[in-house]
Amino acid sequence: MDHFEPKNGELYAENVPLARIAEEVGTPVYVYSRATLERHARVFREALDGVPRKHIAFAVKSNPNLAVLRVLGRQGYGADVVSGGEMRRALAAGIPAAEIVFSGVGKTAREMADALDARIGQFNVESEEEGLELAAIAEDKGLTAACALRVNPDIDAGTHEKISTGKADNKFGVPYDLATGIYDRLSRLPSLQMRGLAVHIGSQLADLAPLEQAFEKVGALLATLRASGHEVTHVDLGGGLGVPYKAGEVLPSPAEYGAMVARVTQGWNVELMFEPGRVIAGNAGVLLTRVIRVKRNGNRPPFVVVDAAMNDLARPALYGAWHDFDAVRPTGERMTAHIVGPICETGDTFARDRECDALKAGDLAVFRTAGAYGATMASSYNSRGFVPEVLVDGDRYAVVADRIPPEEIYAAERVPEWLG
Ligand code: LLP
Repeated sequence: MDHFEPKNGELYAENVPLARIAEEVGTPVYVYSRATLERHARVFREALDGVPRKHIAFAVKSNPNLAVLRVLGRQGYGADVVSGGEMRRALAAGIPAAEIVFSGVGKTAREMADALDARIGQFNVESEEEGLELAAIAEDKGLTAACALRVNPDIDAGTHEKISTGKADNKFGVPYDLATGIYDRLSRLPSLQMRGLAVHIGSQLADLAPLEQAFEKVGALLATLRASGHEVTHVDLGGGLGVPYKAGEVLPSPAEYGAMVARVTQGWNVELMFEPGRVIAGNAGVLLTRVIRVKRNGNRPPFVVVDAAMNDLARPALYGAWHDFDAVRPTGERMTAHIVGPICETGDTFARDRECDALKAGDLAVFRTAGAYGATMASSYNSRGFVPEVLVDGDRYAVVADRIPPEEIYAAERVPEWLG
């Protein structure tokens, strides 16, 4: 459930008409709903009521906006980060360092040193090489790094191949059959406090079965490690729960996910950690856009050319992803059209042969479910600059990220003197 609903024939974000935001801030613009973020944070937490000890870290990669992080931090969420930049954002948003978990296969020495200095809560170590390097850096500093070892359970999450992370040939985690050996060796390093395991098999999961299999494999590993004398106190179950992108689509609910987790992890006697991203932020945002023109196309469906493009919302171009597309002031008439942006490549297509509200030049529309992996994946391709972000709260709103025009981007570029 989200708070982007029609009132008096036009679409609102909570109590603010989207048309007002378009007028005052311009388009394209990402619009987030605070009430929706808070609702999703609460629903996800309540779904885990059956889990005695838990830590929920919002996957910052899904929406790193400082105001969004502040909202979730206030809900008691920590942060799952995958770069020094994300860590600094989480800290800047007021999330306590102890609540931060650092994942990712390519943590640099600099990032690990900074994270140690900041005293983050946990490193999810993705390889023996990384563990050894982290140990050396921590030792130099006279610090101890709390770590979980991320295992690759070799399970097909059944999602888009570009966002699947738990198959043996994906780059993530250590091979399942090598995990105990690696855990043993890393545990002997005095500057590492090996305290648990981590797993994450992919994103936008539409089926709980692969997750359950992965968790069962982690449970088996947990038992093996304990049998050989390791004290394992934490298990990070990652993120991955999918969200409906199409009106009416039904996905496993947080409650079903929570029930499965409670059942599979019963008796583990650990603090369970979670890293949800999309399920919290996805439906809490829309990309608001204006139709530039409708390009008639003979007998073929017309092209609705909107002012948002693949640089602003990359998911359709990258993954063939579906985003519902609705008029802000629907007339009741419908059309079938290709929805495209202004960028000069055919990949800049949001939808083909889409049955949607009838639209004409100047009309406003939204791409829904754009709160996760939307603004954060933007680029400035075709020198289009970066789209602003707005957070709505009841009947007020604030611009929480400014539009960055191309001039500001090229201000960081230099023409060397020797070019004349
Ligand atoms: N934890 C780890 C270690 C991850 O790699 C991810 C996502 C998450 C948590 C959060 O997963 P979520 O709950 O959001 O599914 N750009 C893609 C999604 C990439 C996800 C990468 N990892 C998209 O737009 O669909």
